[in-house]
Amino acid sequence: MCGIIGYTGNANAVPKITKGLSVLEYRGYDSVGIAARTEDGVRTVKCRGRIGMLEEKLEKDPIVGSQCAIGHTRWATHGGPSDINAHPHRAGRVVLVHNGIIENYKELKSALQKDGVSFLSETDTEVAAAVINACYAQTGDPKTAIRMATAKMKGSYAFGILFDEFPGEVWSARCGSPLILAKAKDGYYLASDMTALLPFTKEYCCLEEGQIAHLMPSGAELFDVDGAEIVPVWSVTTMTPESAQKGGYAHFMLKEIYEQPEAIEKSVSPRIINGLPDFSADGIDASFWKQVKNIQIVACGSATHAGLAGGHVLESVAGIPTASYIASEYRYHPPIAVDGTLVIVISQSGETADTLAALRYAKSKGLPTLAIVNAVETTIAREADYRIYTYAGPEIAVATTKGYCTQVTVLYMIAAAIAHSCGRIAEADAKEMVRSILEDAPEAIREMLTQTERLREIAAKIVKKDHIFYIGRGMDYAMSQEGALKLKEISYIHCEAYAAGELKHGTISLIEEGTPVIAISTEEALYDKTESNVREVHSRGAHVILLCRDDAKNPQLSADEVVLLPTKSDAGLLFASLTVVQVLAYEVAALRGCDIDRPRNLAKSVTVE
Ligand code: G6P
Repeated sequence: MCGIIGYTGNANAVPKITKGLSVLEYRGYDSVGIAARTEDGVRTVKCRGRIGMLEEKLEKDPIVGSQCAIGHTRWATHGGPSDINAHPHRAGRVVLVHNGIIENYKELKSALQKDGVSFLSETDTEVAAAVINACYAQTGDPKTAIRMATAKMKGSYAFGILFDEFPGEVWSARCGSPLILAKAKDGYYLASDMTALLPFTKEYCCLEEGQIAHLMPSGAELFDVDGAEIVPVWSVTTMTPESAQKGGYAHFMLKEIYEQPEAIEKSVSPRIINGLPDFSADGIDASFWKQVKNIQIVACGSATHAGLAGGHVLESVAGIPTASYIASEYRYHPPIAVDGTLVIVISQSGETADTLAALRYAKSKGLPTLAIVNAVETTIAREADYRIYTYAGPEIAVATTKGYCTQVTVLYMIAAAIAHSCGRIAEADAKEMVRSILEDAPEAIREMLTQTERLREIAAKIVKKDHIFYIGRGMDYAMSQEGALKLKEISYIHCEAYAAGELKHGTISLIEEGTPVIAISTEEALYDKTESNVREVHSRGAHVILLCRDDAKNPQLSADEVVLLPTKSDAGLLFASLTVVQVLAYEVAALRGCDIDRPRNLAKSVTVE
């Protein structure tokens, strides 16, 4: 939530900040702003709206001659989206941008008000600026002021700060929210995420909790939680600027759907030895899997759905009791752990606050933790005992596609690894699982992507509806939940997923003439049962869209539209149905003219609890 960026060096700062902000918009996009150091002091330009509106403002009244600036793109928490609540915020001699939440801002604010400080905005960020300014007024030293001020704050923050008396310098501090420091030939940068810096540099260093960074045109200093100077350890990212661009697709979401076959291949290939699943390159060997007796998967949003789908495979193939929990609930109502419990946290961004809190909770209880993460070197990846990267590449669209796809892929491989190392399946079966996920899954996705026109026709028939239902059993129910979330989050049509057998216990009363029901039926053993449910809704007027195996008998008898899925293997069917639900959501949203990559009220990286 919220993206921050900063730069100081010998180049023009403003275009760098605006370019970086346009990449960071996925973190929030209700208001945007920049503060740039000029010969006449710090100039701030900010507004409600998106980066284009800031650029228009800057075109009319440009900031010239600035080589040091900070910027912010906002997802409102404290105080609605408005020009005044937009960052940066000034308090006295301090100008600041912030990602995170200062939880005790009310106490801090009333203490400052008693001292005569007044506030313009409703934000917690302006309070943070005022606390830092008060400490700075006492000490005159930025580092001491930041340390004194952050000691008073509770909550999370990544700050970019300008102090009036220190031209050409950006100060920064982090606790709970992500922050990257980077260096290039033309200066030093900071940002919430490396993708925003890819146009400028590949060399970066992640700030750890409690660290403070000091950026100057000629160098950067890093201080640890006790204020002692430490040497930054620089890494080089393998991401390219192109990987964070649309590459000719109308939307990032579409591009990312098309990238899924390759993303699966990248996630699986490094984890195969002699045709068998092998996670030794991730520091996990067969003896680790043998100790696992029970799995708790913890995540948010689609990642929880990936846990549901993966849990299904873990239980059915590996025989490991597995449950998928919503991270924001897990911490407060923790499930009972038994000997041999492994906690798997799943997060595309690696920064989701609820997931991170759940991970920390599990660790505090002494449970072993394994993170399945896409964004490398992120907080969740670093804090978990073990980590498996999904190698999907940067995911920009707010609604995840390839992130979810690779999370399920990795869980599938884990299920194969556990099942094989514990002797629950024969070697040949483990090899077949690996082959099917490596070959059939990408092929099935590619095959379904040749049918986008047909899916667009189906989308056109449901685009004007107010309510849509997904139904399925077993794995298809897990997929229905992801399909329903995808559809509602980007098209704004109300959509719910039901276990196919459960619909008749209440929800069927909502079915009227023409209500779309999307039924998924990929499991041979459950086909007849799901077909009965399809008939139940069809005979009550539902417009049924049936996604089923291509060997199903006469599927058209009970459905208005049939989408046949290639039936080569379970993995193939799973990813074929995933592709259909993703493309359907995309096409419906496109027909409705929605802002597909940036749906209203959402943000991709949710770094608040
Ligand atoms: C947000 C996104 C979802 C995502 C969820 C978890 O709500 O909009 O698409 O599934 O966060 O994100 P994570 O980065 O932890 O996978």
